[in-house]
Amino acid sequence: MRFTAITLFPEMFDATKQYGVVGRAIKDKRITLDCINPRDFTKDKHRSVDDRPYGGGPGMLMTIEPLTASLKSIVDVNIDERSKVIYLSPQGRKLDQNLVKELSQQQHLILISGRYEGVDQRFIDESVDIEISLGDFVLSGGEIASLAVIDTIARQIDGVLGHSESVIEDSFEDGLLDHPHYTRPEVYKNKKVPAVLLSGNHKEIERWRLKQRLGITWQKRPDLLMNKKLTNEEKLLLEEYKKEFKNIKKSFRI
Ligand SMILES: C[S@@+](CC[C@H](N)C(=O)[O-])C[C@H]1O[C@@H](n2cnc3c(N)ncnc32)[C@H](O)[C@@H]1O
Repeated sequence: MRFTAITLFPEMFDATKQYGVVGRAIKDKRITLDCINPRDFTKDKHRSVDDRPYGGGPGMLMTIEPLTASLKSIVDVNIDERSKVIYLSPQGRKLDQNLVKELSQQQHLILISGRYEGVDQRFIDESVDIEISLGDFVLSGGEIASLAVIDTIARQIDGVLGHSESVIEDSFEDGLLDHPHYTRPEVYKNKKVPAVLLSGNHKEIERWRLKQRLGITWQKRPDLLMNKKLTNEEKLLLEEYKKEFKNIKKSFRI
């Protein structure tokens, strides 16, 4: 899969290119990540990429020509049906795991990072396929949002995660949150790891984990459960969790 980031700050992508899951995916040639700087497509001596908004008001806007020229410089953008042009924007569709899965089916994602007050609306109308938001808050630029999109999609690509890593039980994968995880030491400040995890009984461990996933989703994100059809086994496990939760509720802080 191919990612192209159009950004005034390509340096912001350098660390991600080198480290972690994305860095490894690039080294293993499972993904590519290139940056294009609209400043390289300016014609004036100041290399300006922004201008004052018509109608007045505070701030500056990214101008249309350097953005369009950046897009045009990606040779196959018009012929590749599996390319999508994304503008990161607080006004876009909110990023969630369903959208991540949809986008991971594409061959090439072109991610436009806005700066200042954003970009000229005519660029969005003419060239953008989808606007994506990281959430209901305003960032100073689209780079952090672009990096979040790249990271989460890279995790979905076959072979990117190693044997010991898996998306299967990650939060949201099947509409539930993840279960709690524990590692050494077995006892920390009198707090023990749940006994079932030390039992070696894989069936019981799976059952406990599923119960925790159901229960934690019920506690923290009941809206997710409303959209999920539970099996009889899952309903039973959730009832068990609720009963246990009632008993320990007094000492439990949410
Ligand atoms: C300061 S913001 C502009 C905000 C814009 N004036 C508005 O209120 O809709 C600059 C850039 O940051 C990016 N950005 C800000 N918040 C974002 C969010 N929640 N999700 C994705 N990108 C965001 C966009 O690319 C935007 O063009």
